[in-house]
Amino acid sequence: MNVYIGLLGCGTVGGGVVELIHRRQAKIADLTGYRPVIEKILVRDVNKPRNVELNPDWLTASAAEILEDPKISVVVETIGGIEPARAYILEALRRGKHVVTANKDLMALHGAEIYAAAEASGVHVLYEAAVGGAIPLIRPLKECLTGNEITSLKGIVNGTSNFILSKMTDTGADFSEVLAEAQALGYAEADPSADVDGLDAARKLTILASLAFNTDVRLADVEVQGIRNITAADVQYARELGAVIKLIAEGLDLEGKLVLRVQPSLIPKHHPLAHVSGANNALYVRGDAAGDLMFYGRGAGSLPTASAVMGDIIEILRNLQMGARPSAPHMCLTHKPVHPNEAPPQRHYVRLHATDQPGVFADIASIFGNADVSMETVMQRPVPSGLAEIVIVTHLVGRQALKNVLAALESSPNVQRVCCVLPVEVA
Ligand SMILES: NC(=O)c1ccc[n+]([C@@H]2O[C@H](COP(=O)([O-])OP(=O)(O)OC[C@H]3O[C@@H](n4cnc5c(N)ncnc54)[C@H](OP(=O)(O)O)[C@@H]3O)[C@@H](O)[C@H]2O)c1
Repeated sequence: MNVYIGLLGCGTVGGGVVELIHRRQAKIADLTGYRPVIEKILVRDVNKPRNVELNPDWLTASAAEILEDPKISVVVETIGGIEPARAYILEALRRGKHVVTANKDLMALHGAEIYAAAEASGVHVLYEAAVGGAIPLIRPLKECLTGNEITSLKGIVNGTSNFILSKMTDTGADFSEVLAEAQALGYAEADPSADVDGLDAARKLTILASLAFNTDVRLADVEVQGIRNITAADVQYARELGAVIKLIAEGLDLEGKLVLRVQPSLIPKHHPLAHVSGANNALYVRGDAAGDLMFYGRGAGSLPTASAVMGDIIEILRNLQMGARPSAPHMCLTHKPVHPNEAPPQRHYVRLHATDQPGVFADIASIFGNADVSMETVMQRPVPSGLAEIVIVTHLVGRQALKNVLAALESSPNVQRVCCVLPVEVA
């Protein structure tokens, strides 16, 4: 039996979905008893050349041709952005169509509204492709790991910033140089801010933490620091300290109090996350029963992301086959408060510029000592303009003590500038 699919968007991901439906159509029919058939594809420009083989009659610039067609029972959204994707998804759900989406921005910001619309209509809304491209993350957190109390999530979930940091590590080049190269190669957008300023990772963390910790995490709950201020010097010091710099999205559930943050961090070279390079993604999950798990793979791209979309389409077909009702699209049971100040103490890397004179280092050391923050490693090098560059790695330091040290450093007449402060992960 045929199940008719309306595809919203036929770009990188939508084109991959068209290709995989062609490739896997017969097999899916064997597996589920339902043959997925593309009925219509919404695009902005029906005359634009496409990278995928398709029947030109499928293309339309009118969303109504999909949303109002009773024959179409599954809508796959790969337009991206908030509007009109949100309006189209809500309308599809209202009309009783199942929805699959790859849209993390929408699910992070309007997930609750979309889940409610799906539940009201008794249909599926599935979004495995929204986080981690090909890597199964949503279903493991929503289903396979629910026998666990998940206490932490830690991962690399933004391919663009990981590509940039990996390239900086491999070549020694500075951020702006590598960003320009990533833009020329198509790995970074013309406006890269969502990726390099950490917002994309924060949106993905919002989705993952909601599922893992059974709470309705909001984007504003996540503290965000991007990678623009990371210099070639930081990458080099990290190397000398036996580490690499990675943009880490982290969620902790400290007995009901959440810590949620996205920040560049020094990752020791023997930590599994240190080896996640280029456009790959990885998520480290700690469960009380399962222990530590790491999910790793291609975080973006046409076929990898389409692979996750196809998994969702097939789940819908299987449920149709069994006559099963959709499972809850989310796992939010409570609203857990966010307590960034409860974050466990961490080691920190601090790079600063100070006047290059006798006695200055003793003054800096006393600032750390007065705040009861002990130093594990110290490196000092001259830099142009007569300053000394000092790098200090602290022992474990709590958030307030670190703030006190940084405030005292900023107001010291011997310190010209605190250039970079990053947490250092334990191995
Ligand atoms: N790219 C990835 O690797 C990746 C990975 C994971 C998740 N995602 C998510 O997947 C979604 C799609 O990303 P993408 O990279 O495939 O985007 P894309 O290549 O820019 O494709 C977007 C498609 O949507 C169509 N479209 C856009 N706005 C439209 C509108 N207002 N009305 C009708 N059609 C419209 C475009 O039509 P035209 O072709 O006519 O312009 C195009 O076919 C996004 O939510 C993204 O975050 C992408």
